[in-house]
Parts: sequence; structure tokens; C-alpha cells
Amino acid sequence: MTISKSAAIPGRNVVVVGTQWGDEGKGKLVDWLTESAQGVVRFQGGHNAGHTLVINGVKTALHLIPSGIMRPGVKCYVGNGVVLAVGKLLEEIGGLEAARVEVRSRLRVSEACPLILPFHAALDVAREAAKEKAGTAKIGTTGRGIGPAYEDKVARRALRVQDLKYPERFAAKLRELLAYYNTQLRALDARQVDWSLVPWLRDQPLSAFVVDGQVQFDPVHEQAMRHAEQLRPMIADVSRELNDAHRAGANLLFEGAQGTLLDIDHGTYPFVTSSNCVAGNAAAGSGVGPGLLHYVLGITKAYCTRVGGGPFPTELDWETEGTPGWHMATVGAEKGVTTGRARRCGWFDAALLKRSAQVNGLTGLCITKLDVLDGLNELQLCVGYELDGERVDILPMGADEIERCQPIYETLPGWSETSAGVTRYEDLPHNARRYLSRIEEVTGVPIHVISTSPDRDHTILLQHPFQ
Ligand code: IMP
Repeated sequence: MTISKSAAIPGRNVVVVGTQWGDEGKGKLVDWLTESAQGVVRFQGGHNAGHTLVINGVKTALHLIPSGIMRPGVKCYVGNGVVLAVGKLLEEIGGLEAARVEVRSRLRVSEACPLILPFHAALDVAREAAKEKAGTAKIGTTGRGIGPAYEDKVARRALRVQDLKYPERFAAKLRELLAYYNTQLRALDARQVDWSLVPWLRDQPLSAFVVDGQVQFDPVHEQAMRHAEQLRPMIADVSRELNDAHRAGANLLFEGAQGTLLDIDHGTYPFVTSSNCVAGNAAAGSGVGPGLLHYVLGITKAYCTRVGGGPFPTELDWETEGTPGWHMATVGAEKGVTTGRARRCGWFDAALLKRSAQVNGLTGLCITKLDVLDGLNELQLCVGYELDGERVDILPMGADEIERCQPIYETLPGWSETSAGVTRYEDLPHNARRYLSRIEEVTGVPIHVISTSPDRDHTILLQHPFQ
């Protein structure tokens, strides 16, 4: 089923968030909903995010640019809440332009975005390497420098997009910042880090910037100035443009990155990312008032996955052939878009979803990858946990307590028929509908959309978020 533009109420805005640990399939939904929107907005995270889109059978991966860019005429905004690696943005623009997608006239970047520079990635990687050496639990970061960049923002020392407009000021701030970072890198004995061993840094080698464990001013400065020239025409007062667009009756779509359980406050702290991924941050991270967020769509996989370290109560063995976890990993092709790492897989956790529903104020759910469960004999649905001898029905806060949670499961029958590509609810296998109804009952959130394959058109619409 497809959405027609005329279906949208003018001025109505939608926020899309991940309700688990990211990788719920937000990219496809954002792209699909963009048919009803005139603007798509990123409001947090950075190029740690990754969306795979399949359009006319062709796969495209985007990390920073809202996936709405694939729709001609739609404006895309990178809000102040995003930490921006300008080089990565320009690379993505280049890739899209090579595929004949016009980007520059439609992309607006907030001048208040903190910049991610090579030393952020260097510190991120050096810290993880130091943890590994010490035998302490790694966060399993994407190595993109996200954490250090947000630290700079909160510590009020960040270089922001607007600093690129003033080369002298930029150079002075950069020198100060580098002194700080190089002290940190020395303390971590970063000389020992073999940057080329970090697989996901092969495409952005740090060796060009780091000599003897210390980040060099000249290459960082030169690159930033080159990038500034190209970025300049896209720098904008995004807050003002969004408010103007809203007043003119535009429909805006706010595209969350990562997922609720990776939220810096509400996630499985400290195994989280460094931004607020919850829906409320769509306002602060883009410069609109919270009253403009009219509908919150929570994207949730029909099972659970997680990349990186940290507790995961319903995790299964996903490496042994023939097990349900292996089925999810292989049929669901569960590999990270950004880092290529295998994703851990497990049963659907309705008690976790309750937490997500609460902290996001979800209006409706979108279930993705339902078809991946086709062929499993039975399904386990986590409805609560046993924690220190007591029964709890919602995911507790923080990693320590979550680590001690023993899931309580309900067993539901699986289905042998295929749900892949189904576009009408009544055509879903009977037991698939039963599974979905039980998820609604336990979480208390209605299912409004179901995605039955990566294809844009394989989507069941039960209620239109823009109506
Ligand atoms: P960081 O965001 O690179 O600092 O990584 C912190 C944690 O968030 C790690 O467990 C990452 O694997 C995870 N993470 C960050 N971005 C994503 C994403 O887009 N999808 C899934 N996990 C992510």
C-alpha cells in the first residue's frame, strides 16, 4: 500500500524513532513516509548511524543525510543536535550525485552543529583500545568520534559549523582543542595504537593526521578549510527555516538515529551512545518547539538485535547453525551498515518496548522484518523479568540491573507460510497476526504500520501517521 501526498494534514509533523538498540529499519520507513513530507530532519547522532535503502532493487547506504533525499523535491535538514563530520557528509553528497540525485540545493546544515574532526575518532579508538588492554568492558563504539564530539559540546569547547566561517577564530580554537586532545592521547599511550587495525577506519585512515600518537595541526586544519568551502552554501539557520516551513503548511518528518535503549539518559547506560535518541530531542535537536511534534512512530523489529557491548536480556545464541538466533541473524542479514559488525540477535522484548513507549510517548508502532520470523516453529515473547527474586514488567534503568534480569517468556506458535511482501493485514499468516496482537496487548501501543520486506512498497498501513 502506498501513501498519497493528499493524505497528509497540512502542517502535521511526525517523529520516527527506533525503540530498541538501533537498526530497526527506520531508513525504509522514513523514505516511505517522505512521500507525504516536504522536509526531513536529522536531530541527533552523527555518522555512527546507517540506513540501508532499497529503491528499485538498488541498495544505498546513508549515514548523515536524511534518507528523504531519495525523493525529488524534498528538503533535508541536519539539525543542531547532530555532530557533523563534514568530510563524511561531502562523501555522501558525492555518492548521491554520482547516482544522479540532486543534493546541494536541497540540503540545509545547521550552523550550530558541533564538528567531528579526526582527533575525535582518534580518542574514541584509543579509549576502546585502552579498555581492551586493561581487560575492562568496551562500549563497542563505532569508532567515529561521536562520544568525544558530544563531550566537547557539553564542555563548551566544541568547534561548530559556524566557526568554519571565521578562519582565524577556527585556527585558534583548533590549536587549543588539539592541545587538550593530545594530552589525553598521551595519557592513553596512543603511540601503541595501530590505527590501521580498526576495520571500520580503513575508509578514513587516521594515519594521515597522527604522528607518534599525536594529532597534527596542519593536516586537520587544511582539510577543515577545504571542507568549509564546499559546505558554505548549505550552512543555514535550520531552526528558522523549519519554523517558516511549518507556518507555510509543510509536513515535516523528524528522523531519529540509533535507538531508545542507546539514549544517553534512558538507555542501557553506560553502554549507550552520547546523544538523546528519544522523540523529545527532535525539538531541542532541530530548534522547533515540542508542540510541533504531533505524532511519534516507534520503529521496532519483530525480534531484537544489538551491535556493540552491553546487556541484552533476550539474547540468543546466534552463531550456532539451526538455532532461532542463527535464523534471525542469517535470514535477517544482521550486519551493521556502518561498521559491518555482526549484530547480536534475540527474542522480541515487550517489557523493553514498554520502557520505549513511555520515554518516547509513542503514538503508534511500526513492526519491521516480520518476514524474518517466517518458518520458525514457535516464538518466545518476553513479557517481563525476574530481577533479584521479584517480577518486574518494564525494563529497569541502567546496565547493572538489566544485566541481572532473567526474561519471562510466553510461547506463541510460529507460522510456515510466507509474510514477505504482504501488503494487506488480512493476508498475513494467522499466527503472525496473533503474534502482533499479543505485542499490542502487552505493550499497550497500537501497531499502525507493518513492513514485510526491505522494498518500499511492501508495507501494510493501518493508520497514516500524517493524518
Ligand atoms: P557510538 O555511538 O559510536 O559512541 O557507539 C556507542 C554504542 O552505540 C555502541 O554500542 C554502538 O554499536 C551503538 N551504535 C551507535 N550507532 C548505532 C546505530 O546507528 N545502530 C546501532 N547501534 C549503534
